[in-house]
Amino acid sequence: MASTSATSLSIGSTLSFGHKSRSLAQPKPLGVRLKSHASLASFSGLKATTSVSCEAESSFLGKESGVALQRSVARKPQKQSQRLQYHLQPRASFKVAILGAAGGIGQPLSLLIKMSPLVSALHLYDIANVKGVAADLSHCNTPSQVLDFTGASELPNSLKGVNVVVIPAGVPRKPGMTRDDLFNINANIVKSLVEAVADNCPDAFIHIISNPVNSTVPIAAEILKQKGVYDPKKLFGVTTLDVVRANTFVAQKKNLRLIDVDVPVVGGHAGITILPLLSKTRPSVSFTDEEVEELTVRIQNAGTEVVEAKAGAGSATLSMAYAAARFVESSLRALDGDGDVYECSFVQSDLTELPFFASRVKLGRKGIEALIPSDLQGLTEYEQKALDALKPELKASIEKGVEFAQKQAVAA
Ligand SMILES: NC(=O)c1ccc[n+]([C@@H]2O[C@H](COP(=O)([O-])OP(=O)(O)OC[C@H]3O[C@@H](n4cnc5c(N)ncnc54)[C@H](O)[C@@H]3O)[C@@H](O)[C@H]2O)c1
Repeated sequence: MASTSATSLSIGSTLSFGHKSRSLAQPKPLGVRLKSHASLASFSGLKATTSVSCEAESSFLGKESGVALQRSVARKPQKQSQRLQYHLQPRASFKVAILGAAGGIGQPLSLLIKMSPLVSALHLYDIANVKGVAADLSHCNTPSQVLDFTGASELPNSLKGVNVVVIPAGVPRKPGMTRDDLFNINANIVKSLVEAVADNCPDAFIHIISNPVNSTVPIAAEILKQKGVYDPKKLFGVTTLDVVRANTFVAQKKNLRLIDVDVPVVGGHAGITILPLLSKTRPSVSFTDEEVEELTVRIQNAGTEVVEAKAGAGSATLSMAYAAARFVESSLRALDGDGDVYECSFVQSDLTELPFFASRVKLGRKGIEALIPSDLQGLTEYEQKALDALKPELKASIEKGVEFAQKQAVAA
């Protein structure tokens, strides 16, 4: 297993504030902790080779890559045995599969995951165009081996032995489309991919990105139940982009240091079901009623902002890849034994009367260790009204997903 010290990547956008032993009742900031200024300095992962020497341990490129770069700068002759040892004994130990890896999200997400020192193998699956993506990525001198898999016949092998499966396969929104318009196409894609996950790596963490997440996660749960392998602790709807956006917009609005800001986002992942809990923002900050309204609406519609700006060329891909990479990195840290990992995600839940609900969760080796209820306590009147208002829409989207999966089972 890779040691935790090698995992101080810079994918997360928040810091912990030194409250390492915070109880569950007191939520800690979301996301990946940055352990040193060295991590911050290497945030982009793009740096001149001359500065590698002091930051190899915490580099975004991973220690081994840093060492390799140092060697290349020093131009010391390298023994064959040293190079072999690097290849045969990487610190990285987890396998990650990306289904839909050749897409707008899949490609940058694959690149970001290729940069993780925790990943030993990166399996890229798509129905087309994935060979070139894999060949391109495989030239990056980071620890993971990149393998490509094309088409349904290669899907099972892409999933064997995998610890985390990320699913961004599907069609993105076009202007004028809602996430629910995507339902029929993406529901079938998610169904067939999750069936393969159930057959080939039932113990893996499953990260669903394909929209509408409010329905595709319940579909995945039903499929896994039908296959007799459903573990609610390991099925996640990726809502990290909502948190990333909330943190960014709040920091801009209130002139805060971006890296400090932490806003929990609960509910679901479409329109009004996205509920940023601005009253729970850390560091503590006050908002006028107008600011709350403006920020909430902007966070809820941020996806549409991108869809319209891209004018027909798709939806958010780069920020989504960044957010998904952060969620993968958090999952890998949890799998690696870090007992201090919290993220927001859309998961099976009993925090409200709805069977699925996005909230902050604590991640551990076996998946979700705890749902964090405290964010939902002491809501403002605005937040409570918004929570009440989102429930019928979220309930309907969940039921639509469950009905779809159950009908498919009857028809089969
Ligand atoms: N959760 C979120 O926050 C969030 C944010 C943005 C987009 N999305 C969703 O992510 C999905 C992908 O978006 P994108 O912009 O990358 O789309 P894209 O069209 O650029 O890429 C989708 C990829 O999926 C592949 N694909 C299609 N059917 C497949 C199948 N059966 N098996 C494997 N791969 C398959 C395509 O070949 C393509 O490479 C969309 O559903 C989009 O709505 C989610």
